Amino acid sequence: MLAIIGGTGMTQLACLEISHRQVMRTPYGEPSGPLTFGRISNHEIVFLARHGYGHTIPPHAVNYRANLWALQSLKPARVVSVASVGGIRADLMPGTIAVPDQIIDYTHSRKFTYFDGSDRPVTHIDFTEPYCPVTRGRLLAAAKRANEKIIDGGVYAATQGPRLESAAEVNRMERDGADMVGMTGMPEAALAKELGLCYATLAVVANYAAGRGTSAHVIRLEDVHAVLEKAMVSVRDILEQLVELDGD
Ligand code: HPA
Repeated sequence: MLAIIGGTGMTQLACLEISHRQVMRTPYGEPSGPLTFGRISNHEIVFLARHGYGHTIPPHAVNYRANLWALQSLKPARVVSVASVGGIRADLMPGTIAVPDQIIDYTHSRKFTYFDGSDRPVTHIDFTEPYCPVTRGRLLAAAKRANEKIIDGGVYAATQGPRLESAAEVNRMERDGADMVGMTGMPEAALAKELGLCYATLAVVANYAAGRGTSAHVIRLEDVHAVLEKAMVSVRDILEQLVELDGD
């Protein structure tokens, strides 16, 4: 079964025929909302809205540990997270979809590990390749089948939010090697890896990052929402092709 974590612009999945919702409790508290079970093109999937179904939970307050723990308890074949980002690289213009292959973590003060030393031996997971290469490959293949243009790879910079960045911060991230910036990629990816989940991200560019292109002086949220709404149609097409490729 495919698990999908929906981000900003995706609190619901229009192509999903919902069968039921399930409230889950975990040792780490409650996930962002009940898990939604249903079918896409007749294949079973589970969906969770990262920011809650009413989009009320800001990135720094998401219970990432509970979200991934709840999904992991269902033993999904893979977990695809949909996350909106600001484009730093010039070709990552608003509306573009990318499948990042690397991460730089600038977040702080989040609950970022299951191995916090209280009840388990010290464990250092390998994070050389933060995303599952097989799931990345499947997303790229699904985009090809859906005739959707997609960018293979890119460095995702995870920031604390909820504010957007200053132009100087984006310049620094670019010098660090970042191609896109978002607020939810970490600790989500690291927790998924700690749980052994096959996890990858569809990054949807909502705007140019601060100080870049059309965001040279300001980022207008109305524009961001309009871009996301349009791009989500492509995201749905890609996910439909992904479940077809994966089967049950
Ligand atoms: N910065 C951080 N997160 C984001 C952005 C951005 O510009 N756009 C969408 N999510």
